[in-house]
Amino acid sequence: MRGIICYYSNSGNTKLACQYIVKNINNIDFVFLNIAKDSIPDLDIYNIVGFAAFTDFFGPSKFVQTFIEKLPRQNNKPAFVFNTYGFISGKTLKILDKWVTTRGFKVIAGYSLHTPESYPPMIANGRGNEQAPGEKEMNKFNCFISELNRLLYTLGEGKEIKKNKIKIGLFEILLPMYSRTKARKNMGEKYIDEALCTECGTCEKICPYEAIKLSPKPIIDMNKCYGCWACYNHCPDKAIYTKKYRGIGHYPKPNSQLMKKLKVK
Ligand SMILES: Cc1cc2nc3c(=O)[nH]c(=O)nc-3n(C[C@H](O)[C@H](O)[C@H](O)COP(=O)(O)O)c2cc1C
Ligand code: SF4
Ligand code: SF4
Repeated sequence: MRGIICYYSNSGNTKLACQYIVKNINNIDFVFLNIAKDSIPDLDIYNIVGFAAFTDFFGPSKFVQTFIEKLPRQNNKPAFVFNTYGFISGKTLKILDKWVTTRGFKVIAGYSLHTPESYPPMIANGRGNEQAPGEKEMNKFNCFISELNRLLYTLGEGKEIKKNKIKIGLFEILLPMYSRTKARKNMGEKYIDEALCTECGTCEKICPYEAIKLSPKPIIDMNKCYGCWACYNHCPDKAIYTKKYRGIGHYPKPNSQLMKKLKVK
C-alpha cells in the first residue's frame, strides 16, 4: 500500500506532526508533498491521501484550497484530514473536510493537534503556548494515529471503509469566520530595515502569494499580500517589521520541546 500526505506548513509544526504520524503507521509507505513547492501529483498510484494544514485565522489557508481545487476529480479515493493550531482551531478541520470531499475524496479520519503558536503577535504577547501539546493531548493524538493505523489495515485487506463525519466542538461551530481582510489589515504595511537586510532573497522565496520581489531590497505588493507572516517569521536577519511588531515573536521553525515530543528518527 502507498500513501501521500499533501501538507502546507509555514513554520514546520505541521510537517513535523505529519512525519510523526507516518513514523507510527505500519503498513503504508508514505511520501510527502509540499503544497507550497511541489507540483500536482499523480494520485492514481496512492491508496490513501492525507491533507494537512495549519490553522490560519480559524480556517485553512486559501493556498490549500487553490491546491485542492486543482487536483483531478476523484471517485471516493480514501483520504484523511489533519491540522495543527496554536490556540483555537476554529473550523479548520471541517473546512478541509468540505474542500476534500467536494473534490470527490472519501474522508475516513481527521484530527486537529494543538501545537505552539507561530503567529508572531500571540508570541509577542506571551501567548506562544510553547508547552503544547500537553500529555493528554499527546495521548489523544496517539489514539488518533492508532485508529488511522487500524483503518489502513482494513483498507489493505480490501474492505470498504465508511466516510467519517468530521466533528468539531460547539464553540468552534459558533465561532464566526475571521475575515481575511481584517487579518491583512491587522498585519498592515510591512517595512524593511535596510541596515539589517542582506538581500538574501529568503522572503521572496518563502512568500506563498508571490507578493515580494527583490529590487535589490524586497518590495512588497500589498494587493497580493495575504498577511501570513511567513516573511516576518523567516527573515534570518529580522529585517522585516510592521507598525506594531519589530524584532519580536518570530517562529521560523518548531520549538525544541515540540521537536522532542514528535521526535522523528
Ligand atoms: C497568520 C497566522 C494565523 C494563525 N491563526 C491561528 C488561529 O486562528 N488559530 C490558532 O489556533 N492558531 C493560529 N495560528 C497558529 C498556527 O496555526 C500554529 O502555530 C501551527 O502549528 C503552525 O503550523 P506550521 O508551523 O506548520 O506553519 C496562526 C498562525 C499564523 C502564522
Ligand atoms: S529575508 Fe530578510 S534579509 Fe533576506 S532579503 Fe528578505 S528582508 Fe532582506
Ligand atoms: S508578503 Fe509576507 S505576509 Fe504577505 S503573503 Fe507574502 S509572506 Fe505572507
